[in-house]
Amino acid sequence: MADLLQKDLDETRQGEAYAPFVEDPNQYPKKFYIESYGCQMNFSDSEIVASILHEEGFGATRNFEEANLILLNTCSIREKAEQTVRNRLTTFRKLKDKRPGTLIGVLGCMAERLKAKFLEEEKLVDIVVGPDAYRSLPQLISDAEGGQKTVNVLLSRDETYADISPVRLDSNGVTAFVSIMRGCNNMCTFCVVPFTRGRERSRDAESILAECQDLFERGYKEVTLLGQNVDSYWHGEVTFALLLERVAQISLLLRVRFSTSHPKDITDDVLETMAKYHNICKYIHLPVQSGNTRVLSMMNRTYTREWYLNKVKRIREIMPDCGLSTDVISGFCTETEEEHNDTLSLMELCRFDMAYMFSYSERPGTLAERRFEDDVPEDVKKRRLEEIIKLQNGHSRESYLNDIGKTFEVLIESNSKRSDLHWAGRNTQNKMVVFPKGNYQLDKGHYAIVIILDATSATLIGTIVA
Ligand code: SAH
Ligand code: SF4
Ligand code: F3S
Repeated sequence: MADLLQKDLDETRQGEAYAPFVEDPNQYPKKFYIESYGCQMNFSDSEIVASILHEEGFGATRNFEEANLILLNTCSIREKAEQTVRNRLTTFRKLKDKRPGTLIGVLGCMAERLKAKFLEEEKLVDIVVGPDAYRSLPQLISDAEGGQKTVNVLLSRDETYADISPVRLDSNGVTAFVSIMRGCNNMCTFCVVPFTRGRERSRDAESILAECQDLFERGYKEVTLLGQNVDSYWHGEVTFALLLERVAQISLLLRVRFSTSHPKDITDDVLETMAKYHNICKYIHLPVQSGNTRVLSMMNRTYTREWYLNKVKRIREIMPDCGLSTDVISGFCTETEEEHNDTLSLMELCRFDMAYMFSYSERPGTLAERRFEDDVPEDVKKRRLEEIIKLQNGHSRESYLNDIGKTFEVLIESNSKRSDLHWAGRNTQNKMVVFPKGNYQLDKGHYAIVIILDATSATLIGTIVA
């Protein structure tokens, strides 16, 4: 395996490995501008929307002032996410005063949550479209061009957009996201996603494999399989473990990642498949939310503290070098100081490489909003969150410092943000690695073997091993 990989690596170094998507701006009579918020699913959906709009004669622009159609693909996960979108709309209000013909559309989870209310609350919005209704955009746009404000927020049980080939927006030409399922059936009590994204459904495996194969042929070297709960992927005979294996078999040079895993669903089968294939990245994002079993039960996460700790143990038994990150919520309804300390102690035991940390934000319509009182005072939530962040910062720092002296295979994604003389890419554990280009004939999409010399709490700094 090691020999084969080295041979393949040498071949890419000689070949043309980087083929970015280039759009001819004059090819389309009209222009659209799209901004995406929230999770990767939303960014991935925007690429489907771009594809639908191309068919309608709209080309993408990065300058909203010249757009005929401005779209915001929105997120509802926390109140702040919605506030950001409302603030952004005020910018477009000024533009609309200057150019009244510009159409403004709101897509995604906030569109789904607020439905027609959006048109009443935000007078400048012309089109409101939920995540399962993007195929109706051409009709909605044409109605809006005729002066009629329009809404389509129907959720679907089977829409996966499987036949629509996404237009890669803002792509580095190396890494791409591929949606493998939509919706979520889990009903975590704090979460708005089941209401904004509807029932879970898996996309057929053949169309996923065809998309990954096509990306590889166009020079991409990494695909991330996306879903709210990828481990419950199921289509015909194909489980998530099998899908992962089949994507990994496309080429040893195509890295495979996935997000997000639910602790209750990630199986040994998946872990063993990861261990078996060098090109399946050794990194798992495994949101824990809380380290206390009573709080987890109120959240309806359906696992206990012990179950989670066992999962982490199992991951490290099967893949000792696996990167691990998590999501944590502070101050969920009724959480006591002691229960909060359980979250801190779980973090000590797991030593995550990275975490996304939030204070609880009550969302209208969720089970928690209907059943429980949001009774942890805001200042307590914030203080607990700060304790969580402080602890995690220490763990991240330790994790990155621990890599000094180690050697990693890094997929080059771009120039480093600070200097054109450095490359930036990630190792299999998903850590960003920056290193000088030197005199090597390397390019984006190539793999480099890098030894780590220094680290911050979010970046490894190294040098190419000759
Ligand atoms: N499907 C993924 C997560 C989707 S949302 C999963 O189940 O893991 C991403 C993260 O946002 C969640 O993991 C959770 O930590 C956070 N989140 C969701 N709802 C929230 C809320 N009401 N308040 C604060 N954080 C929330
Ligand atoms: Fe939300 Fe839970 Fe589904 Fe994740 S698994 S999207 S947190 S309901
Ligand atoms: Fe936000 Fe919707 Fe994703 S609520 S996190 S954009 S699924």
